[in-house]
Amino acid sequence: MTSSFNRHRRLRQTPGMRALVRETHLREEDFIYPVFVVEGEDTKNPIPSMPGIYQWSLDRVEEEIQEAVDLGIQSVILFGVPAEKDDIGSSAYDSAGIVQRALRQLKARFPALTLIADTCLCQFTDHGHCGVVKDGEILNDESLELLTKAAVSQAEAGADIIAPSNMMDGFTAAIREGLDHAGYTNVPVMSYSVKYASAFYGPFRDAAHSSPKSGDRKTYQMDPANRREALREAQSDKEEGADFLIVKPALSYLDVIREVREAQQLPIVAYNVSGEYSMVKAAAENGWVNEREIVLEKLTSMKRAGADLILTYHAKDACSWLNDTTN
Ligand code: PBG
Repeated sequence: MTSSFNRHRRLRQTPGMRALVRETHLREEDFIYPVFVVEGEDTKNPIPSMPGIYQWSLDRVEEEIQEAVDLGIQSVILFGVPAEKDDIGSSAYDSAGIVQRALRQLKARFPALTLIADTCLCQFTDHGHCGVVKDGEILNDESLELLTKAAVSQAEAGADIIAPSNMMDGFTAAIREGLDHAGYTNVPVMSYSVKYASAFYGPFRDAAHSSPKSGDRKTYQMDPANRREALREAQSDKEEGADFLIVKPALSYLDVIREVREAQQLPIVAYNVSGEYSMVKAAAENGWVNEREIVLEKLTSMKRAGADLILTYHAKDACSWLNDTTN
């Protein structure tokens, strides 16, 4: 045979040959591992819809973080589950709040770990919305003040990065200004810029007790049908001073990750959300898919789509599989 067609299989013959031409690589430092911290003592509370994920009380959370660090994880994002909720989410900006206490404790215990604080109100408000609610309406500008207070108190408590997830307009600008004003000019903002109103957040809301009591999040989170809107959101957050851009969810939105990658120069974080995690876990527990192969494939696809970093509940497993050189 002569060369009337291309022999692509030449480069696939052996593991060594395939490694030579591999275009996308997962690394331990790509992963951000989410950790849920809860009030109380001696608590390692399983989340039924997220096998392998727990709510941790502060006297036990170091077990979880130590395990993650030993596996090679270099950054975690903290989500707080407070004891008390009220209509303005005041425990979100209490210096003795669950997230603030967790930050202080973990900063002292793991100085080299990058601590990211999720900044939102929904876990802390009794109505479960990410902003202030009046007569059934989620108020934008009134919410910015509270979110800024929450971000500043998290920076004060030792957060290395602030990650606001509330989707009010102007939240990145308000938080950047608030941080600068309080002297935290060097604390980066990892903005949930492109966040869809997604059914894939269901299991997270079990874990964080953050479902809205009435209505939904469709007036602030994005319509899954839209792609140009994602580019406008990303551009706004860049202009407002974001240092990282999050696209969320990830798996059904790989096209959006690619488009944001092409339009923006900032580091992009893919948030591989709870529902995406739980679907794979459920299928794997039934023996219907090979968990290791499917997880590494889906995480690789997020990087191939253009993400620099991946926020994922699979992070510990992924690190241990990457370290396992037996195959
Ligand atoms: C809070 C927040 C949510 C998630 C992260 N931060 C839930 C929501 O917007 O309802 C979802 C994460 C996941 O599903 O893993 N605003």
